[in-house]
Amino acid sequence: MRQATVSIDQQALQHNLNRVKQLAPQAKVVSMVKSNAYGHGVANCLDALAETDAFGVACLEEALEIRKLGHQHPITLVEGVFTEDEMQVVIDQGIELVIHHQQQLDWLLAHADAYLAKDLKVWVKLNSGMNRLGFKASEIIKVIQDLQAQGFCCVLAMHFANADADHPVNEQQKQQFLQIKAACAPILASCCNSAAIFRWPELHFDFVRPGIMLYGSSPFADQSINQLGLKAVMQFDAAIIALNEIQAGEYVGYGSTFKATEPMCIAVVSIGYGDGYPRAYNTQNYVYVQGKKMPLVGRVSMDMIAIDVTGLDVQVGTPVELWGKQRLVDDVAEANGTIGYELLCRLSQRPVRHMINN
Ligand SMILES: Cc1ncc(COP(=O)(O)O)c(C=O)c1O
Repeated sequence: MRQATVSIDQQALQHNLNRVKQLAPQAKVVSMVKSNAYGHGVANCLDALAETDAFGVACLEEALEIRKLGHQHPITLVEGVFTEDEMQVVIDQGIELVIHHQQQLDWLLAHADAYLAKDLKVWVKLNSGMNRLGFKASEIIKVIQDLQAQGFCCVLAMHFANADADHPVNEQQKQQFLQIKAACAPILASCCNSAAIFRWPELHFDFVRPGIMLYGSSPFADQSINQLGLKAVMQFDAAIIALNEIQAGEYVGYGSTFKATEPMCIAVVSIGYGDGYPRAYNTQNYVYVQGKKMPLVGRVSMDMIAIDVTGLDVQVGTPVELWGKQRLVDDVAEANGTIGYELLCRLSQRPVRHMINN
């Protein structure tokens, strides 16, 4: 059997959820499990996240998967429904909607009685400058006031474009959110993703919406999960499948991009871009072997990578950590010009997934 495994550490997931609760003790937690729990496998994560107040997903299919797995937590559909025919399923399954444009509002109003009968909140999204989803500041107050007048319990919702960095748009978004919140008071409110949970305790309000921090990847380019008190949830391992002693002047891999300048021992490892391991690196990338940081050499292939194991006592079958507790996924992402979110989400189904509960 191919030695390429993804292990999901449920205790680390629980630890990270508790970290959210420690940072935002007054707020309810909507754990974001969209995109198959950021690539971790939603079925592997829901039990470990059972102490969350709610789940957040991007589409109805993801919400139904949660129900199919037997979880009855509140679910927020963060982009709302895409067509009116989804409304009845949403109501039957007790799923809460975000509404972010007029058509969704019309669909909601057409099903108002059934939605209200289920006692579901409606999340009304403000476009405060990200220009992705949401009603503009000039229109949202009327939308909310009309819904409130009809008996809907509304949550004013917003998403920061730059919560992970200093940017003048942050202040603009904050001020707009606070103004609308005041104009619609009393109203429930939610605007914090992982980065905002760390940075702005004063904005936690009623619901926080952590995603990446739950999985033990940092929302900040300049702070590691260790500094943030988070634990890596995914352990991604493979194994050495061949060893080659090479001489100075010999090449490794496609394109012959790596040329040895001295005698080396090259290990071929059972992982490649077909598994979701990133191919395009422009700075040096590393893996961990026997607790040591060892460099990749040559190009990443579909099913294999080559690493320099000169000086190590390794053999076929020796395990290799691609990312996990020693080599943080964020460091692999940085070496490949991307972010942890992307590496986690685009893992393929080929590596075998395990759950571990220490
Ligand atoms: C609306 C919304 N809230 C919260 C999150 C979670 O963000 P993060 O993973 O940065 O914590 C996301 C993720 O993209 C989102 O779209």
